[in-house]
Amino acid sequence: MKAVILYDSRTSNGSTEAIIDSIGLSLAESGFYVEKAKCKATADYSFVRDFDLVVLGAPVYYFIVASQLLGALIQGNLKKCLNRKKIALFLTCGSSESMGALLYMPQLKVHLMRNKILAEKILAVDALADGSVDSFVEELLLQYNKPPKSRELSAKWTVEAQEWFHSMPSFMQGKFRAMAEEYAEEMGYKEITLEVLMEARDNLGGT
Ligand SMILES: Cc1cc2nc3c(=O)[nH]c(=O)nc-3n(C[C@H](O)[C@H](O)[C@H](O)COP(=O)(O)O)c2cc1C
Repeated sequence: MKAVILYDSRTSNGSTEAIIDSIGLSLAESGFYVEKAKCKATADYSFVRDFDLVVLGAPVYYFIVASQLLGALIQGNLKKCLNRKKIALFLTCGSSESMGALLYMPQLKVHLMRNKILAEKILAVDALADGSVDSFVEELLLQYNKPPKSRELSAKWTVEAQEWFHSMPSFMQGKFRAMAEEYAEEMGYKEITLEVLMEARDNLGGT
């Protein structure tokens, strides 16, 4: 199992870096090979494809998530390279957890609509002392290690999606059904709609 922590911070050895080192250590103790990399908006993120788990973390400065991480998602190829990756998110900030979840976390999540987010957390500057970093890692590991749902519990198909599916040539149906159900399960979708099918086709076809 390989995890990479991608982060941004203006501060060397600041609170974000301390939190990252602690997360990295916990993941390593749980059997992950861990690397960390500081984001640059224009960097090439193709290397991310080699990892099973990607943790994204950054502080908030002047109401905005640190710019190199946001830039990597908006301008760079990070979003594309995160396609189908299991990810976890954390932000460090001086605001309360509820304020951070409302104002800051969406700045990242809006770029990650197609990802399975295992865990997300707003961390205070003293998060290492109050145990919230540990609980973030616990939740992340719990979700990562969750066995896939059984076929009986897998997503239900809408009528519209079934109609589209049956319009496919029959020799393609078997493979596509398995692929679509696996994709929906991976992404945590409870229902397979026409949109989910298109998404699965675009994403899986593009890899
Ligand atoms: C210049 C500056 C601006 C900040 N702006 C905000 C803000 O708008 N909202 C907030 O909740 N916290 C804000 N903070 C708090 C930081 O997000 C928090 O201290 C964070 O842990 C800093 O991470 P670092 O040590 O890696 O730089 C700000 C801190 C600094 C130094």
